[in-house]
Amino acid sequence: MSDELTEEHLEGFERVCTVDEVPEQMPRRVKVDGRGVLVCRSGDEIFAVDEICPHKNRSMKWGVLFQGKIICPHHQYQFDLQTGRCNQRCAPVQTYEVKIVDGQVWVRP
Ligand code: FES
Repeated sequence: MSDELTEEHLEGFERVCTVDEVPEQMPRRVKVDGRGVLVCRSGDEIFAVDEICPHKNRSMKWGVLFQGKIICPHHQYQFDLQTGRCNQRCAPVQTYEVKIVDGQVWVRP
Protein backbone atom coordinates (compact mmCIF):
# COMPACT_ATOMS: atom_id res chain seq x y z
CA MET A 1 0.00 0.00 0.00
CA SER A 2 1.25 3.44 -0.83
CA ASP A 3 0.97 4.76 2.74
CA GLU A 4 3.50 2.16 3.89
CA LEU A 5 6.17 3.57 1.62
CA THR A 6 9.04 5.42 3.19
CA GLU A 7 11.65 7.80 1.83
CA GLU A 8 13.93 4.93 0.85
CA HIS A 9 11.26 3.63 -1.53
CA LEU A 10 11.27 7.01 -3.25
CA GLU A 11 14.87 7.05 -4.37
CA GLY A 12 14.97 8.35 -7.93
CA PHE A 13 11.51 9.93 -7.62
CA GLU A 14 10.73 13.66 -7.55
CA ARG A 15 7.87 15.14 -5.55
CA VAL A 16 5.78 17.17 -7.97
CA CYS A 17 2.52 18.22 -6.26
CA THR A 18 -0.14 17.07 -3.85
CA VAL A 19 -2.94 14.71 -4.83
CA ASP A 20 -5.44 17.53 -4.15
CA GLU A 21 -3.70 19.72 -6.72
CA VAL A 22 -4.45 17.26 -9.55
CA PRO A 23 -7.74 18.29 -11.22
CA GLU A 24 -10.44 15.81 -12.26
CA GLN A 25 -10.66 16.27 -16.01
CA MET A 26 -7.52 18.09 -17.02
CA PRO A 27 -3.86 17.27 -16.56
CA ARG A 28 -1.61 19.22 -14.23
CA ARG A 29 1.66 20.20 -15.83
CA VAL A 30 4.77 19.77 -13.71
CA LYS A 31 8.50 19.66 -14.32
CA VAL A 32 10.38 16.46 -13.65
CA ASP A 33 14.12 16.48 -14.17
CA GLY A 34 13.64 19.61 -16.30
CA ARG A 35 11.04 17.99 -18.53
CA GLY A 36 7.33 18.80 -18.88
CA VAL A 37 5.20 16.00 -17.46
CA LEU A 38 1.42 15.82 -17.17
CA VAL A 39 0.01 14.42 -13.95
CA CYS A 40 -3.41 12.99 -14.69
CA ARG A 41 -6.23 11.67 -12.55
CA SER A 42 -8.41 8.76 -13.58
CA GLY A 43 -10.88 7.83 -10.88
CA ASP A 44 -8.84 7.15 -7.75
CA GLU A 45 -5.59 6.67 -9.67
CA ILE A 46 -2.90 9.14 -10.66
CA PHE A 47 -0.77 8.72 -13.76
CA ALA A 48 2.07 10.70 -15.35
CA VAL A 49 2.80 11.01 -19.05
CA ASP A 50 5.12 13.16 -21.10
CA GLU A 51 3.75 16.58 -21.98
CA ILE A 52 4.73 16.27 -25.62
CA CYS A 53 2.41 14.43 -27.98
CA PRO A 54 4.35 12.00 -30.17
CA HIS A 55 2.12 12.77 -33.16
CA LYS A 56 3.39 16.27 -34.00
CA ASN A 57 5.47 17.08 -30.93
CA ARG A 58 3.00 19.56 -29.47
CA SER A 59 2.06 20.11 -25.86
CA MET A 60 -0.90 18.20 -24.45
CA LYS A 61 -1.21 20.42 -21.36
CA TRP A 62 -4.66 21.54 -22.53
CA GLY A 63 -5.69 17.97 -23.22
CA VAL A 64 -8.83 16.43 -21.78
CA LEU A 65 -8.99 13.30 -19.64
CA PHE A 66 -11.65 10.76 -20.47
CA GLN A 67 -12.03 7.14 -19.37
CA GLY A 68 -8.40 6.56 -18.54
CA LYS A 69 -7.07 8.37 -21.58
CA ILE A 70 -5.68 11.77 -22.40
CA ILE A 71 -7.05 13.32 -25.56
CA CYS A 72 -4.56 15.54 -27.33
CA PRO A 73 -6.09 18.99 -27.99
CA HIS A 74 -4.51 19.28 -31.45
CA HIS A 75 -5.81 16.31 -33.46
CA GLN A 76 -7.72 14.44 -30.73
CA TYR A 77 -5.52 11.36 -30.71
CA GLN A 78 -6.10 9.40 -27.52
CA PHE A 79 -3.34 7.98 -25.33
CA ASP A 80 -3.90 5.40 -22.61
CA LEU A 81 -2.67 6.84 -19.31
CA GLN A 82 -1.40 3.49 -18.09
CA THR A 83 0.37 2.15 -21.17
CA GLY A 84 0.86 5.31 -23.24
CA ARG A 85 -0.63 3.52 -26.27
CA CYS A 86 -2.37 5.57 -28.91
CA ASN A 87 -5.69 4.78 -30.62
CA GLN A 88 -4.19 5.86 -33.95
CA ARG A 89 -1.11 4.82 -35.87
CA CYS A 90 1.22 6.78 -33.70
CA ALA A 91 4.02 6.05 -31.28
CA PRO A 92 2.98 5.76 -27.63
CA VAL A 93 3.46 8.66 -25.27
CA GLN A 94 6.15 8.19 -22.61
CA THR A 95 4.68 7.15 -19.25
CA TYR A 96 6.31 7.61 -15.86
CA GLU A 97 6.09 5.64 -12.64
CA VAL A 98 4.04 7.37 -9.93
CA LYS A 99 3.91 6.86 -6.19
CA ILE A 100 1.57 8.51 -3.72
CA VAL A 101 2.86 9.01 -0.19
CA ASP A 102 1.01 11.00 2.46
CA GLY A 103 -1.02 12.85 -0.14
CA GLN A 104 2.07 13.79 -2.17
CA VAL A 105 2.60 12.76 -5.78
CA TRP A 106 6.06 11.46 -6.69
CA VAL A 107 7.19 10.78 -10.25
CA ARG A 108 10.25 8.93 -11.47
CA PRO A 109 11.82 10.55 -14.53
S1 FES B 1 -0.23 16.75 -32.04
FE1 FES B 1 -1.29 15.45 -30.67
S2 FES B 1 -2.72 14.43 -31.92
FE2 FES B 1 -1.59 15.64 -33.30
